[in-house]
Amino acid sequence: MRFLIIALFLVYTSVAENIMCYQTAEKNATMCPDPAEGAAAPTKCFGPTFSVLGGVTNSTYGCGECPTDAAKDACVTCDGAADSACNPEIITADNYECYDYSYNAEKGVFAIQKDPITCHRKNGTDVHCNKPGVNATETYTSNDKGCGPCTNTTAVAENIMCYQTAEKNATMCPDPAEGAAAPTKCFGPTFSVLGGVTNSTYGCGECPTDAAKDACVTCDGAADSACNPEIITADNYECYDYSYNAEKGVFAIQKDPITCHRKNGTDVHCNKPGVNATETYTSNDKGCGPCTNTTAGVCVACDETRCNSAVTVTAFLLPLAALLYTLF
Ligand SMILES: *[C@@H]1O[C@H](CO)[C@@H](O)[C@H](O)[C@H]1NC(C)=O
Ligand SMILES: *[C@@H]1O[C@H](CO)[C@@H](O)[C@H](O)[C@H]1NC(C)=O
Ligand SMILES: *[C@@H]1O[C@H](CO)[C@@H](O)[C@H](O)[C@H]1NC(C)=O
Ligand SMILES: *[C@@H]1O[C@H](CO)[C@@H](O)[C@H](O)[C@H]1NC(C)=O
Ligand SMILES: *[C@@H]1O[C@H](CO)[C@@H](O)[C@H](O)[C@H]1NC(C)=O
Ligand SMILES: *[C@@H]1O[C@H](CO)[C@@H](O)[C@H](O)[C@H]1NC(C)=O
Ligand SMILES: *[C@@H]1O[C@H](CO)[C@@H](O)[C@H](O)[C@H]1NC(C)=O
Ligand SMILES: *[C@@H]1O[C@H](CO)[C@@H](O)[C@H](O)[C@H]1NC(C)=O
Ligand SMILES: *[C@@H]1O[C@H](CO)[C@@H](O)[C@H](O)[C@H]1NC(C)=O
Ligand SMILES: *[C@@H]1O[C@H](CO)[C@@H](O)[C@H](O)[C@H]1NC(C)=O
Repeated sequence: MRFLIIALFLVYTSVAENIMCYQTAEKNATMCPDPAEGAAAPTKCFGPTFSVLGGVTNSTYGCGECPTDAAKDACVTCDGAADSACNPEIITADNYECYDYSYNAEKGVFAIQKDPITCHRKNGTDVHCNKPGVNATETYTSNDKGCGPCTNTTAVAENIMCYQTAEKNATMCPDPAEGAAAPTKCFGPTFSVLGGVTNSTYGCGECPTDAAKDACVTCDGAADSACNPEIITADNYECYDYSYNAEKGVFAIQKDPITCHRKNGTDVHCNKPGVNATETYTSNDKGCGPCTNTTAGVCVACDETRCNSAVTVTAFLLPLAALLYTLF
């Protein structure tokens, strides 16, 4: 008899421990009220759901099963507990907008959709948009129509960065126009010691169609740095060129000096034929810059403007050496 009383007491206390649910009527997570006479105590909580594209569904929160008049798929239940509500209130933060893309099979590109998509988010989560990267294949579709972070970690890439004349800086390339592919290359001018910097602007994508021939080149873009950094030059300088005079068997200096270009941070150098230069030898870059032929005595370099003049050539006995060369 005593055991039966204890057993009944235990049953009573376990039943009496009501679950806790967030309840719209209470505007809080509180203990569910005792069931009506003859009804079972609730074991579940109900409430709305959240999705990035739809936001919070139109449902109230409460104890027990979803109301019978709840809109289809607007209400879900969860297993109740005594110490916390399994259906906490869904707090949202301000909506934001992203763009969706669809694959245009005819043009072979991902085309941006004209109207932005409204994206919902829970309080405490950040704003994120996603879009197809350069490696997305035609079967790719954006996660949540462009709302939220990337879920495909292989296909997606950030915009590349290029030096852009319009921005006067290396900055991220703008999103492509509707129907256009995101750029994967940067373009810009080239540099040569004899020609300097070619006449080209800098930017994202392929070279402009009106660019002068050979004035513009492209490079493979990257997300973290511009592959087409601005070419900064320093003051030009001058050097002399030489040509082999077969009749006299010597290298003859050319009358007019050559204008040499250089990038900022590089030194002035001139070069000229040395005593061991043979008749087929030609100066590197018409005498501008350092020697490139490292065979002993073939090339001599110096480091001031016009430093490779005729006066220094005679000091190397070049005419004599050349004369001896022709005798044998
Ligand atoms: C909600 O409940 C918590 C504890 O459960 C309480 O501290 C708070 O004051 C309640 N808020 C409202 C609005 O009833
Ligand atoms: C939300 O649901 C209630 C009742 O189910 C309905 O009266 C109301 O019109 C709905 N609101 C929206 C915005 O759908
Ligand atoms: C939103 O989240 C922040 C921290 O993430 C919190 O401080 C704030 O109280 C939350 N707002 C609401 C309405 O719950
Ligand atoms: C595209 O895929 C290739 C090959 O897997 C990879 O080398 C390249 O880095 C990818 N491009 C980007 C922008 O991630
Ligand atoms: C990611 O996208 C690539 C290219 O569109 C596709 O081949 C791959 O199956 C995708 N991966 C996942 C996990 O969806
Ligand atoms: C160029 O960009 C760098 C960082 O990317 C920034 O520090 C610098 O101020 C920018 N310069 C101009 C002229 O916009
Ligand atoms: C550079 O190119 C632009 C456009 O291609 C042209 O208008 C301009 O005359 C060119 N300048 C020189 C110095 O060639
Ligand atoms: C040229 O290079 C020097 C160091 O090599 C640097 O301090 C300077 O800022 C550069 N000038 C320009 C215009 O980039
Ligand atoms: C360097 O110059 C010598 C003499 O003119 C020539 O025989 C040799 O082929 C040159 N070497 C190179 C790497 O051009
Ligand atoms: C020219 O070549 C010869 C034979 O290889 C070598 O002995 C001599 O040192 C060279 N001359 C100079 C100035 O390096």
